[in-house]
Amino acid sequence: MTIHLNLNENSYDIIVERGVLKKADEHLNLNRRVLVVTDSGVPSVYAETLMKQCKNPVLCTVESGEGSKSMATFEKLLSLMLQNGFSRKDCVVAVGGGVVGDLSGFAASAYMRGIDFYNIPTTLLSQIDSSIGGKTGINFGGIKNIVGAFHQPKRF
Ligand SMILES: NC(=O)c1ccc[n+]([C@@H]2O[C@H](COP(=O)([O-])OP(=O)(O)OC[C@H]3O[C@@H](n4cnc5c(N)ncnc54)[C@H](O)[C@@H]3O)[C@@H](O)[C@H]2O)c1
Repeated sequence: MTIHLNLNENSYDIIVERGVLKKADEHLNLNRRVLVVTDSGVPSVYAETLMKQCKNPVLCTVESGEGSKSMATFEKLLSLMLQNGFSRKDCVVAVGGGVVGDLSGFAASAYMRGIDFYNIPTTLLSQIDSSIGGKTGINFGGIKNIVGAFHQPKRF
C-alpha cells in the first residue's frame, strides 16, 4: 500500500508492504553515498539488508536509547559524512525507532544545509507517530527535542 502525503514540493510516499526492505532499492535512490543510521537494539539484519542494496554505504550504529539524541552523536554523524566525502547529492537513511529517526533526520537537515533523508521506522511508535510530520531533533541542556529542524523525508 502506498499513501501519498501531499505537502506541495515536500510531498512524499509512505510505502507499507511486507518484505519491502529487501527491495528498498526499487523505491529509494541508493545509487550514491548512503549513511545508514541504526542503533544497537535494532536487529542488525535490517541495516545489513539495506546496505546490500546501496552502492556506497557507510554504517553508523549508535547506542540504543534516548541518550543518543545528543550533540555528541549528532556531531559523529556529521563527521562521518564529511570524512566519507558526502555531497549534497548523497543521503541519510534511518533504520530504527524514533531515536534514530529524530537524530539522523536532524543530521540530514543540517549537512550542507540539507540532504535527502529516508526513514525506515522499526518500532510501532516510529511507524505511526515520529516518522510522520517532519520533526527531527536532539536533546540539549537537559531539555528534550530542544534543538532540531523540520525536514521531511523523501520517503518512508
Ligand atoms: N519526531 C516526532 O514527531 C516524534 C514523535 C514522537 C516521539 N518522538 C521521539 O521518538 C523517540 C522514541 O521512539 P521509540 O519509542 O521508537 O524509541 P527508540 O527509538 O528508543 O526504540 C525503543 C527500543 O526499541 C529498539 N528497537 C527498535 N526497533 C526494534 C525492532 N524492530 N525490534 C526490537 N527492538 C527494536 C531500540 O533499539 C530501542 O532500544 C523519543 O526520542 C521521542 O522524543 C519523536
